[in-house]
Formats: sequence, C-alpha cells, structure tokens
Amino acid sequence: MSLEISNNNIYKNLYDGKWESIPNIKFIEITSPVDGSLVGKIEAMTKDDVDKVVTNSKSAEKVWSETPISKRAEILHKAADLLEASKSELSDILQIEIAKDRKSCLSEISRTVDFIKFTADEGKHMEGETIGADNFPGFNNNKLSLVTRVPVGTVLAISPFNYPINLSASKIAPALIAGNCVILKPPTQGAISALHLADIFNKAGLPPGVLNTVTGQGSSIGDYIVKHKDINFINFTGSTEVGKHIAEIAGMVPMLMELGGKDAALVLEDADLEAAAKNIVQGAYSYSGQRCTAVKRVIAIDSIADELVEKLKDKVEKLKVGMPHQDVDITPLINSKAADFVEGLIQEALDKNAKLILGNKRNGNLLYPTLIDNVTLDMRLAWEEPFGPVLPIIRVSNIDEAIEIANQSEYGLQSSVFTTNINKAFYTAKKLEVGTVQINNKTERGPDHFPFTGFKSSGLGTQGIRYSIEAMSRIKSIVLTIEG
Ligand code: NAP
Ligand code: G3H
Repeated sequence: MSLEISNNNIYKNLYDGKWESIPNIKFIEITSPVDGSLVGKIEAMTKDDVDKVVTNSKSAEKVWSETPISKRAEILHKAADLLEASKSELSDILQIEIAKDRKSCLSEISRTVDFIKFTADEGKHMEGETIGADNFPGFNNNKLSLVTRVPVGTVLAISPFNYPINLSASKIAPALIAGNCVILKPPTQGAISALHLADIFNKAGLPPGVLNTVTGQGSSIGDYIVKHKDINFINFTGSTEVGKHIAEIAGMVPMLMELGGKDAALVLEDADLEAAAKNIVQGAYSYSGQRCTAVKRVIAIDSIADELVEKLKDKVEKLKVGMPHQDVDITPLINSKAADFVEGLIQEALDKNAKLILGNKRNGNLLYPTLIDNVTLDMRLAWEEPFGPVLPIIRVSNIDEAIEIANQSEYGLQSSVFTTNINKAFYTAKKLEVGTVQINNKTERGPDHFPFTGFKSSGLGTQGIRYSIEAMSRIKSIVLTIEG
C-alpha cells in the first residue's frame, strides 16, 4: 500500500493526482468499533477546500472525456488488478475500521474487482444507434438521428459506511468509463478504506484531477457539496433521511439514490421450510444485519409459522458471535448509537408482548442475534429499519394479508417469496411494490450487473453496471437531413 496517502496515520486527500495535506486543517479521529483503537485521522475539509477540489475536477473533464473508451477501460482493468493484489491488506483495514467479519471483507473486495472489470468491458460495448425518420407519420427517409452518449461532467459519489469499498467503486467505475470526473465523499467511518481504494484508481493511471476525494462529516460539509453549482450528478447511497434531504436541497441535478429498506421474506404454506429458514438467516444476519438488502422482517402464514420459527431458531443458535478476525457471523455494530437504536426497537416490541425466541443480549456494541416472534403492526420493529441483528416474525392468515402488510411499508427495495407453487410465486411477485422480488432466495443485490432499484422511500433511479453507466451519461443526438 502506498506511503503517500498518509503520514503517521494522518490521511491526506487525493487532489490533482497527488495526496496533499491541507495546511492548518482540523482532523477527525477514526476509532475502531472493534476495540476503540485509533485507526487514523482524516481531514475535516472546509467549504474553501471543497471549492478548490471542484475547480480542479472541472479542469480535468476535457482531457478525460476525450480519452478513448478503450484507454479508460485499460485503466480500470489495471485498477482491478491492483485491488486484487491489495486484497489481504485492505481486508485488514476494513475489519478494523467497520468491524466487518474477515470473510465478508474479502468477498466485498473480490466482488469489487469483478465489478470494475465488468464495467470496463461493458463500457466498451455501449454503442450508439441511428434512427431513421420514415416510421414517424409525416416524415420520409430524409432524416437520420445519430444517437451517442456523452459524459455528464463531474459526478459527486457519496458512499455509506457498510460497503466503503464496494459502494464507492460501484459509483466511481461506471462514472469513469462514461467519461466523467469523480469527486468521492466517503463515509466518515469507512473513509480510510475508501481512500485506499481511491489510491488504487489513481495508481492505475488516471490523469490528474479525474478522481479527487473530499473528507469531512456529511453533517458539516455535505450540504455545501451537494448544492455546489459545478456538481453535475449526485450518486448517493445511504439512509433515506439523508437521501431525501439531499434531493430537497440539490436543485435540478440528476441523481441516483440507493436508500434504506425493510425487505420482507414472505413464507407461504407450501414453502420448503428448511431452505427458506437457511436463506432467511443468511439474509438477515450477515454483517450483523447492516445491509440495505438484509431480510428485515418475516411474514409467515400462521399454519407453518411454528415449524418455521423452530428452524430459524435452530440456525440462529449456530451463528458465531465475536470479533471480525475470528471468522464469525456477528460482529460489533458500527457505533454505540446504532446499538442503542436496535436495542430500543427490541425493547419496545417486548414491552408490547412480542415473544423473544433468542438473543437480546449485548456486550458493548456487540448485539447477539435476536429473533422475535408474534410481532404485531403496532410495534416499531414491524416498520423501521434496525440495521442490526434482529429479525421480527409477523404471522398472517393468508397470502393476500402477507402482501398487504409487505406493501404497507414506506420502503420498497426488495422482497422474497418462499413457495413451491410457481403460480403463487408470480401472483405475489407481481403485487409486491419493490424493485426486485427474489423467488425462493434471500434478498440480495448481486450479481452486480442486475438492475438494482428501490421503489418508494428506497431510492431513485436504477443501478447495476449498464444501468449506472447509462444514468451517468446523457444522450446526445446529431440529426442529418439528407437533401433530394
Ligand atoms: P448515512 O448516515 O445516510 O450516510 C451516508 C453518506 O452520506 C455518508 O458518506 C455520510 O457522511 C453522507 N452524508 C451525511 N449527511 C450528508 C449531507 N447532508 N450531505 C451529503 N452527504 C451526507 O448512511 P449510513 O449510516 O452510512 O448507511 C446506512 C444506511 O444506508 C442504511 O439506511 C442503509 O439501508 C442505506 N444503504 C442503502 C443501500 C442501497 O443500495 N439501497 C446500500 C447501502 C446502505 P458521514 O459519514 O460523514 O456522515
Ligand atoms: O447495503 C447494501 C448493499 O448494496 C447490498 O448488497 O445485498 O450484496 O449485501 P448485498
């Protein structure tokens, strides 16, 4: 890993192709959710610093937009190779910075390597089209539209703490292949991992200024950057609260928003309960439930609910709890505020007579996997996104009641339906108000070239490699009129 990026664990920002320290800057200490140790310090950039960065990005737009796509793809492939080579070291940083278990860290990085390579190749195959005029009433074949895609300019990429490598790269790579400059504003907790990723892209040979970084608390400088007149596109992943706030203040800037979720797993009478339980437990508890696509509620038909709960319990009991390097399933939450919030949701449900099946134990920020049955619709746990290792079970009497409750959520990211009846699967899938329905599988994002989109408060626009490239470029048409 490069020496230029930090000095005595004090991290700089990538500016005009170099890692620069800002004189007289204040620092933010990043401590580990694992043991409270200092991971490093990052710069709390000011509005003036942001202005300087944006000006630099704008000055790099021309050279990058005129760089042939084949050359851009070559640089992305180089970045993917460098990322692959840094896997072990970066996984160590991720583990300590965001307390993600070792296996999930390695998988986040491998998946990102594949993402960058796929993006490079996809970009090479995104061709334009020509459209004739004679199929439109009143026109003959004397006009031709040559449709191409051009970059939008400078993309602001804002990523969340839970996937600081993957969800930074999934914005950076498609934006770059489309010919845009990128300013990365990483999550504060997760910034160090993301700065290492930026270093890798830079080392792969990006011209100076094509990728810059801005660090600082979103609550301090976030509003200023998102409203900056020279930002041409905002690609944001994070909470619905912050996403909605950005959408309100940013003005007429195109944006992609990946926000919160309350993904439901609907388990019907004829489901293979063993397979359903296995999928649900993996989907609900991996990275301690800190995933937008985690299964965040089970809606089970009453007649099979007892058996399902037994199977879920059996599997949740086997989850390993501990620290990231111990190859466990459940690790400490990102901070004590998050742990307090999850605990509050659990307590409110129990106070209202939900039935605790397992868990509700806490050691610092480490919450033990918690399974709660008989959750009813007057409980916050039925509706709110915990972002922690707790799974509520809501019992219903039939398929339509299950669909109705699923759709009452303010969120609409994904849902699963478990059934052995294909007709019921499609009946349910068609009625669920979500971007993706998984049939007999846990809710999850990948593979990353599939469309990924949230209905309602879960987002705006569609990600997924080709979709992201399309979103971060615009159609430009040149019309030829042929005489005679
Ligand atoms: P968050 O608090 O909303 O933060 C996300 C990012 O926004 C961070 O980089 C944050 O910076 C920044 N930010 C905060 N306030 C800002 C402002 N006013 N202007 C501009 N940027 C601002 O979310 P999180 O806690 O990191 O992530 C968890 C949430 O993300 C969950 O709700 C989860 O469901 C959602 N998520 C959704 C998806 C999806 O694909 N749908 C994927 C992953 C996560 P600081 O860190 O400096 O505050
Ligand atoms: O947290 C949100 C991620 O984009 C979800 O990805 O389903 O692979 O965990 P995942």
